[in-house]
Amino acid sequence: MAPAIQLHLNQALMRIPRRAESADRSTLAATYVAAGSFSAMINSADHQILFGRRGTGKTHALLHLQDLAERTGDIAIHLDLRTIGSTGGLYANTALSPAQRGTQLLVDTLEAVHERLFAVAVDGESADPDALLRGLDALVSAATEVEVIGETEQEQTSGGAVERGYAAELSVAPNGGAKASARHRTSVTTSSRRKRTGVEQHRVLFGPLSRAVQAVADGVRPARLWLLLDEWSSVPLDLQPFLADLLRRSVLPVRGVTVKIAAIEHRARFFVPLDEDYLGIEVGSDAASAVSLDEALVFDRSPEAAQAFFRELFARHVRPILASMLRTAVPGEFVDAAFHGGAFPELVRAAEGVPRDAINIAALAAQHAHGGRITGAHVRRAARDWYLRDKQSVISRDEEADLLLGLLIDEVVGRRRSRTFLLAARDRTAAIDTLCDARLLHIVRHGVVDPRRPGRLYDGYAIDYGCYVTLLGGPAADAAKPLPADVFTFDKAVIDLPRLGRNS
Ligand SMILES: Nc1ncnc2c1ncn2[C@@H]1O[C@H](COP(=O)(O)OP(=O)(O)O)[C@@H](O)[C@H]1O
Ligand SMILES: [Mg+2]
Repeated sequence: MAPAIQLHLNQALMRIPRRAESADRSTLAATYVAAGSFSAMINSADHQILFGRRGTGKTHALLHLQDLAERTGDIAIHLDLRTIGSTGGLYANTALSPAQRGTQLLVDTLEAVHERLFAVAVDGESADPDALLRGLDALVSAATEVEVIGETEQEQTSGGAVERGYAAELSVAPNGGAKASARHRTSVTTSSRRKRTGVEQHRVLFGPLSRAVQAVADGVRPARLWLLLDEWSSVPLDLQPFLADLLRRSVLPVRGVTVKIAAIEHRARFFVPLDEDYLGIEVGSDAASAVSLDEALVFDRSPEAAQAFFRELFARHVRPILASMLRTAVPGEFVDAAFHGGAFPELVRAAEGVPRDAINIAALAAQHAHGGRITGAHVRRAARDWYLRDKQSVISRDEEADLLLGLLIDEVVGRRRSRTFLLAARDRTAAIDTLCDARLLHIVRHGVVDPRRPGRLYDGYAIDYGCYVTLLGGPAADAAKPLPADVFTFDKAVIDLPRLGRNS
């Protein structure tokens, strides 16, 4: 291919947007690649929680869903929870009580939903704007009654037992109607009593919210209302159960409404058990099911599926960019024109199932290739750059995770000359979760059973490709040296996490 075109191909790779929210609607519709059964699942009208690590395509999936819904005449609002509330940092301000911060969060969220739907009504996008406006009025007045309360201080000791009372579900009719209040009482003996702190002490009062949400849903009929909540994990962890509780009690049961939430699994807290009840959403129960992009994009068992997905992803993303750069279409398949044989499979491995990482590594590789075709060495160098630039920063902030990764690397890469290992599911720790969230470890197999000891479940992990090639050192990694094959046999791959580092 002419050098000028080769240069354009590389430039197009560098220009692919890294975040779905920075692309426009029509581009997102044209660039979306369905990932197996995942796409069919999230298109359903069921309430769902969409789990995925950074860059796995949660926002793209939600925006694509919004587009589909709107095309069928439904009303869909995509709410980025990072943008809720005007005073940034308020929810994290520890000078305020959780009750105050929680109340503010709930009111701000309802306000944001109101604002979006108000625009829908005013723009005449709904069938009966007056009905929607009436519902929205009800929503505004209901929002003023939503409140997170701390446990009331009615502690009294009587006969060695402490009685604690707290107001539960309080429902107030909007126009001075009946006021019903239920009171729960719990008795605990002094000996078993422990001072509980944090979210466990709280209740959320909703007032007439549920009815108001139903009025809004009725106001957009016959259309369905899709509430797409993005960036759930940006909400402070201690406040998440309040928002989840609001959804479970006042939105999920409403006819004609579908809720989808995008979250990072280990930075999400949807559920808190209480003495006799719970706060939030029981994920996986009938209220809301969980779907995982982390699992949908693990292509370990089928490298062909992974390659097909990423070939399509790159072809679609560069198409509009190349169209604006070149007058003539690029002949043939984009990936074959831009990559030397062997370089693209290497890129797919380096991406570890995360589209944003694939895009970033491809852009860096394209930069290294200047005006030439991208080689495997370019990809490895790019993966190393990306590891150092993006992924490594996480462990420099988390000592425990850093230490654990060091031990795993010494054992798995240093001694066993491998990149993969098995870990008993019950040995999984918070530090392992942190490393997975940071894309330094990847779960590539779930629920592997040891044939010699059935009943014990293991997960298969891989140390991140970028981390691995960085460890190999520059020249060694740049040479066309193949990575070790993934090994998941029980005599070779099991790591005894509690004992790791003690026997060295
Ligand atoms: N299924 C997909 N098809 C096409 N592009 C995708 C897909 N999933 C993710 N991407 C791309 O990967 C990048 C990261 O996706 P994004 O939705 O922003 O991730 P997340 O919200 O999970 O952090 C974006 O450029 C997006 O367009
Ligand atoms: Mg996102």
